Amino acid sequence: MTIPKIGLGTAPIVDVDWAGLVATALGLGYTHVDTAQMYDNEAAVGQGLRMSGHPDDVFLTTKIHQDRFRDGTALESAQTSVEKLGRVPDLMLVHWPPRGVETEAVIDTMLEVQAAGLTRSIGVSNFNRPQLRAAAAKAPIATNQVEFHVLIDQSALHEEARALGIPLTAYMPVARGKAFDPPEVGQIAARHGITPAQVVLRWIVQQGVIAIPLSTKVENLKANLAVLDLSLEPEDMDALTAVATRENTRFCSRPDWDPVWDAE
Ligand SMILES: NC(=O)c1ccc[n+]([C@@H]2O[C@H](COP(=O)([O-])OP(=O)(O)OC[C@H]3O[C@@H](n4cnc5c(N)ncnc54)[C@H](OP(=O)(O)O)[C@@H]3O)[C@@H](O)[C@H]2O)c1
Repeated sequence: MTIPKIGLGTAPIVDVDWAGLVATALGLGYTHVDTAQMYDNEAAVGQGLRMSGHPDDVFLTTKIHQDRFRDGTALESAQTSVEKLGRVPDLMLVHWPPRGVETEAVIDTMLEVQAAGLTRSIGVSNFNRPQLRAAAAKAPIATNQVEFHVLIDQSALHEEARALGIPLTAYMPVARGKAFDPPEVGQIAARHGITPAQVVLRWIVQQGVIAIPLSTKVENLKANLAVLDLSLEPEDMDALTAVATRENTRFCSRPDWDPVWDAE
């Protein structure tokens, strides 16, 4: 199953009519929507899918809260997600590596969720390299969804994922706007006559990484989808990779959830 290279993120960082936004994005040609139990908007996302008139033609991802693997309710929670969404998702992820639960046991549970018909495929999110290797040794992993943008160096994780044949999905792909700040981004945008957002998103997808930007504005939704038709030159790609190496800043971090990010 191929995951469309651009999806709509729905993390509730802003107060939004999620059903309306999902329906709008699908009307603009989006074919991929990302949600999570934690976002508390699965029902609204499901409503948006139905409002679009073609709820099943969309690659739909949701994520099981990591605590459900600790309290033994992952399967029931997945059932609840399916009820809220109104359809079986294409992909369910483990939202963060559950503390104190072996990766093998986590993936066994995900395989039970899949066997119960509650998702078409399984994946992970925020897994470090050893956790990703352990997961891949147990089952086909459709993606590892991680923070990935032009201000963080994810080259080691990306190399590992490539070797395992697992595509990365970039969350916070525009770093909530901070990715537009480096001067190189503006220079490349000006040279190509495109926006800074398009530069940083194109840098991601041109590396074979899936990106799920959130936007509440039609103009930005359109611009983000249009990066599929753009192209950056190798020297632009290298310049942006150098920015990521230089800046190397992680914005999404929770001390009680973070794995050892750079574990080898
Ligand atoms: N797995 C995880 O642990 C995890 C963690 C964080 C996020 N995620 C997922 O990743 C998705 C994306 O991350 P995010 O929402 O945190 O951050 P993001 O997509 O990097 O940033 C969203 C912000 O960027 C702005 N933006 C988007 N496109 C733009 C454009 N073309 N021009 C100007 N501004 C633009 C949006 O403003 P406007 O509305 O004004 O366009 C919005 O405020 C989430 O929604 C969620 O689905 C997953």
